[in-house]
Amino acid sequence: MIQMTLAEIAAAVGGTLSEADPETTVTGPVEYDTRRDLTGGLFVAFPGANVDGHDFAARAVADGAAAVLGTRAVPGVPMVLVDDALSAIGRLARAVLDRLPQLTVIGITGSSGKTSTKDMIGQLLSRLGPTVAPPGTFNNELGLPHTALMADEQTRFLVLEMGARGAGHLTYLCGIAPPKIGVVINVGVAHIGEFGSQEKIAEAKGELVEALPADGVAILNADDPLVAAMASRTRAQVVAVGTSAESSVRADDVTLDGLGRPAYKLVWPEGETAVTLTVAGAHQVGNSLAAAAVARAAGMTVTECGEGLSTLRAVSSRRMDVFNRADDVTVIDDSYNANPASTAAALRALAALGSAPDGPARRTVAVLGYHAELGEHERSGHEEVGRIAAESGVSLLVVVGDNAAPIRDGATAVARWGGDSVLVSDQDAAVALLGERLRPGDVVLVKGSRYRTWQVVDALRATAEAVA
Ligand SMILES: Nc1ncnc2c1ncn2[C@@H]1O[C@H](COP(=O)(O)OP(=O)(O)OP(=O)(O)O)[C@@H](O)[C@H]1O
Ligand SMILES: [Mg+2]
Repeated sequence: MIQMTLAEIAAAVGGTLSEADPETTVTGPVEYDTRRDLTGGLFVAFPGANVDGHDFAARAVADGAAAVLGTRAVPGVPMVLVDDALSAIGRLARAVLDRLPQLTVIGITGSSGKTSTKDMIGQLLSRLGPTVAPPGTFNNELGLPHTALMADEQTRFLVLEMGARGAGHLTYLCGIAPPKIGVVINVGVAHIGEFGSQEKIAEAKGELVEALPADGVAILNADDPLVAAMASRTRAQVVAVGTSAESSVRADDVTLDGLGRPAYKLVWPEGETAVTLTVAGAHQVGNSLAAAAVARAAGMTVTECGEGLSTLRAVSSRRMDVFNRADDVTVIDDSYNANPASTAAALRALAALGSAPDGPARRTVAVLGYHAELGEHERSGHEEVGRIAAESGVSLLVVVGDNAAPIRDGATAVARWGGDSVLVSDQDAAVALLGERLRPGDVVLVKGSRYRTWQVVDALRATAEAVA
């Protein structure tokens, strides 16, 4: 964090000081986990049902924190006292950003692809100047201000993932970190259980472009009608991205290579260039176009943008991570999280790898686990995933966990599907089954909501390392 005195911090968050010298200056990071480096920083103590951060307050100061922000005084600990630590960290982030006029905030929302796109934008903008875009998913009322507080006087770009689980969430996040550039990737059915309908999801996601200033830029995926319609909800300049001719930042002549990695011609108003993505999946085209539009808005040339997109590294794990094993099995680790739209995208990538034009046809195996947060669409959402798996022609479908069983039902209901399906009770059983059934040349997709298939893919990777 930028240097601030405890008096300044207390003023910013509407708090009071306890056993603290108002002139003490915080010179280090703002953290809520004592395992992080706290030197010179501010430790935020959250009251919790199981673990109370205040129990770690004295320890944090002993470890080097300058002070602790919390909701009750701890004897002997210099503290900033507030009513609500969560809203305080948000107010502090806003106060810091207000002191950084050189900084451009980029906000990214969408049902799937926020982290993937954030990682691309982070890498592109790093070419133009110091950029804060840490790996992983920090998109809520805690992770977002925590990330924003990493910005300082040197930072030129702050790239923030913004998640919405309901109406008003993005407005709140944009109040903490007002974006100049906003990106909306798609409106899927993620969290539909909480929202109720896709229209309500679109309503909530559009809050991001409503928050943009008149001199801002709204980057909208024109290939998604619910996103394209958000153009009428913003004062900012609208930049449409997509594969259709009316998009001003567009991909022409998209092809996929044997590992499912797209190549295309990037076309924008000032020029065009060839792009060869290093990440797999046709859905990365849209993500990378959004990233390109951000880079363009930040002043990058089309040539440099093409170079940047063609040399991307995987930053956050378990997202379309394709690896080859020595036994000639290719694994697509897309296990980080899943909703029907992102699983459909991953199944398309699986099919593309199985039928790559530059090699022999390969057997495709989909290992699919439970998809969380579908609410009343729980059954139909899983069935749809199974139907898509069958229609994409997977040879073997392994459904992990009884709660994911409707995936199998959806697949077997597709009469013309000639593949095989197995329901296994848990991840260990899936690993055992794959051990028996995988053959050289197979391509395996592993996907489910958070942790439901992580053990499976970790086992496939461990075997890869053992045989490599
Ligand atoms: N544009 C896209 N359309 C559909 N699926 C996508 C898209 N981009 C990424 N995905 C897939 O969605 C899953 C989640 O990707 P990512 O972590 O980037 O999304 P996210 O929006 O950050 O998710 P979360 O809400 O969990 O933070 C991954 O499996 C990824 O391959
Ligand atoms: Mg994310």
